[in-house]
Amino acid sequence: MKKNIKQIIKCRICKSTQLYKFLDLGSMPIPNGFLTEELLEKREQKYELACIFCENCGLVHLTNVVNPDIMFKNYVYIPSTARNMMNNFNNLASYAVNQYKLKDSSLVIDIGSNDGSLLTFFKSYGVRILGIDPAENLAKIAELKGVPTVAKLFNSRVAQSVAKRYGGADVITATNVIAHIDDLHEMFKGVSALLSKDGVFITEFPYLLDLIQKNQFDTIYHEHLSYYSIKPWKVLLDEFGFEIIDAQRLPIHGGSIRLIHRKKKSKKGSSSRMINTLMELEEKQGLYERKTYDDFSTRVSDLKIELNDLLRGLKKDKKRIVGYGAAAKGNVLTNIFDIGTDVLDYIVDSTPYKQGLYTPGKHIPVHAESKLVEDMPDYTLILAWNFADEIMDKQKEYKKKGGKFIIPIPRPKIV
Ligand code: TMP
Ligand code: ZN
Repeated sequence: MKKNIKQIIKCRICKSTQLYKFLDLGSMPIPNGFLTEELLEKREQKYELACIFCENCGLVHLTNVVNPDIMFKNYVYIPSTARNMMNNFNNLASYAVNQYKLKDSSLVIDIGSNDGSLLTFFKSYGVRILGIDPAENLAKIAELKGVPTVAKLFNSRVAQSVAKRYGGADVITATNVIAHIDDLHEMFKGVSALLSKDGVFITEFPYLLDLIQKNQFDTIYHEHLSYYSIKPWKVLLDEFGFEIIDAQRLPIHGGSIRLIHRKKKSKKGSSSRMINTLMELEEKQGLYERKTYDDFSTRVSDLKIELNDLLRGLKKDKKRIVGYGAAAKGNVLTNIFDIGTDVLDYIVDSTPYKQGLYTPGKHIPVHAESKLVEDMPDYTLILAWNFADEIMDKQKEYKKKGGKFIIPIPRPKIV
């Protein structure tokens, strides 16, 4: 992509042009574009944030794709800090090894392997592992942990060369990466080429039903190109000769879905009936209708008013408020809801590289987590709400000393 931004005119899955626009959030800088103090003076490039719903297959996408070079040039997202993510990876590895009776000779390949966190769990079972990830800095970290990694963007060409060198994979995993992929057809071509005849393909992504029902508008940002439900996903599976043999709804990231697929020609497992149940649920909950998305947009506007009223009311009472978790979703919430340093003194975050920097758009300073108990602000807005339990557990001392937490979604709540 030569330009900085590409507009979506056809559905990423079914190519339909029947696209209904909703949730126009305005524009903001890319949400992981943290700034040094020197950069605060410079103008930040902003990109539109709005959604379209495909009335043919049901896929929800962003209206635009920002050039990946801009978003991922300095990609520094490393998942290893969060306990609940590690538990989920551990659970995925043990499920796959036991359910599919993996042996020492079995090959597990992770697409978007990041720093090798998921594969480390597979490694402990003695199976062969290989990561594929375009971020060279992360591939190096993975290699240091003993996770061999191909530092390339996954596509059918890379898939074929990996298959030639290592053989077909018994398991291919893709967790929290499919939302980032623009060309899903190319991805499936690659998975088809790399997966052995009786291999399983395991995906995990945030589930659109949870996003809509729990008002998780702040998980909508430039890196996440698509928001999936089963119906559009099945269109892709049919096209490439795959079918779902198991589905599990997971609490991770506010509500995700794990899908296990096989090639239709495979003899392993059998087609899951749960898919029809999920599609019935999606239909009943209105995921295939415009009105659901219009109602969602209205709820987001109401939430903006409600949260601002709460926070600005506290400021009037001379209370001090800070944020917790300089997550991308937090940067979406503060930008879209216009919550700046007039409300939040600073944000604490466990990620060392974010500390000392400023958030994109709102320029809120980021400090280490230890500052919370040292400084004892009256209220702490948990921006990384997907880790709220873990964070409150870690900060018992703050609570004991009288500090209060606010969780912004689905509706603002003081804890
Ligand atoms: P994520 O939802 O994009 O993974 O972002 C979560 C952010 O929250 C990340 O910047 C790290 C931060 N965080 C903490 O500061 N403390 C914690 O205990 C946890 C789990 C996350
Ligand atoms: Zn479509």
